[in-house]
Amino acid sequence: MDRLAIDGGKPVRKNLLPYGHQWIDEADIQAVIEVLRSDWLTTGPKVDEFERAFADCVGARETVAVSSGTAALHAAMYAVGIGLGDEVIVPPMTFAASANCVVFQGGTPVFADVDPDTLLLDPAQVEAKITPRTKAIIAADYTGQACDYDALRAIADRYDLTLVADACHALGGSYKECPVGSLADLNVFSFHPVKHITTGEGGMITTDDSEFAQRMRVFRNHGITTDHRQREQQGSWFYEMVDLGYNYRLTDLQCALGISQLRELPGWVARRQEIARRYDTAFAEVPGVDPLSVRDDVSHAYHLYVIRLDLTQLRATRAEVFAALRAEGIGVNVHYIPVHYHPYYRERFGYRRGDFPRAEAAYERLISLPMFPRMSDEDVEDVIKAVRKVVAYYQR
Ligand SMILES: Cc1ncc(COP(=O)(O)O)c(C=O)c1O
Repeated sequence: MDRLAIDGGKPVRKNLLPYGHQWIDEADIQAVIEVLRSDWLTTGPKVDEFERAFADCVGARETVAVSSGTAALHAAMYAVGIGLGDEVIVPPMTFAASANCVVFQGGTPVFADVDPDTLLLDPAQVEAKITPRTKAIIAADYTGQACDYDALRAIADRYDLTLVADACHALGGSYKECPVGSLADLNVFSFHPVKHITTGEGGMITTDDSEFAQRMRVFRNHGITTDHRQREQQGSWFYEMVDLGYNYRLTDLQCALGISQLRELPGWVARRQEIARRYDTAFAEVPGVDPLSVRDDVSHAYHLYVIRLDLTQLRATRAEVFAALRAEGIGVNVHYIPVHYHPYYRERFGYRRGDFPRAEAAYERLISLPMFPRMSDEDVEDVIKAVRKVVAYYQR
């Protein structure tokens, strides 16, 4: 049976437009095929090549490719030396992995509330949460807007903390003309298919600190100090496991895809920004729809385009607006359920509703609209049309 729109008529779209989608072209496919025909499927020359290309792209000295953004966060926590009893400050408005990585290492994630306009970690809230056990801050560049790194850096320096950027949303963005990836002591990226570039699954950490980088290279390879290529070059079988590590390696197949995708990044980010401009212009005229604020010292990478509904102006809940947009063929989503709401965090760390009022109030009103570079102008117009239609229908 065909889907019925909110007014019982025809929906804006017949097929659901997803909120995010990869863009794979023939060059990507050929790049992967080439690796399949080569001698190295994993931990070969494509890993170095991808790491170098990524370093050039974000202006970092060191890059460490790993198997996911989550592995990248874990490796970052390992590099910092997070262990039992250590506290790391994290925003609640992010994906759970931003906080989970602290727990992987036996540490305690301490949430600090976000700025109500951008939903980025609020430096004043961070400072209020620092204790003698605090070792690091993880700032999440939520939706693709860089956090206020000057303010966070000042706090990190004052209290001798390591500053980590969960930049999984922000590849291709910048802060005060400096590229995301060069802003914190450790910067973490994800190459999941909805992100700016994809390797299927994959992640990267960038840093200017060669000791951090070396620790993470060992960590991604079981805690073993050499990889099989180095041993082959040395004509040696000997290796030592010096610490407990994981198999967090990214394959040559994936790195070949990453190299090919990275070439498209500037154009794709520009297209995301263009879509955002169209949304901004359209929604400025729609009462009850409030896009997130963007500071003028950033170039926003728009992994996500998030609107906040003014529910006082609507005769509907967020869930009803969400369902109505889905019925119109618009694949809306919600980013994020605040991390401290999850049963694991409530039960293990005692967090409760009410602990972070700004993130919680925002969560009740958030909807992510489709945002990916391959959207056509017609797709963008469909989203705008559907939002206008649903909001007009529910207007008080
Ligand atoms: C902010 C943030 N951090 C970390 C991750 C984890 O990345 P991955 O899915 O590559 O493990 C994601 C991915 O969804 C994310 O959005």
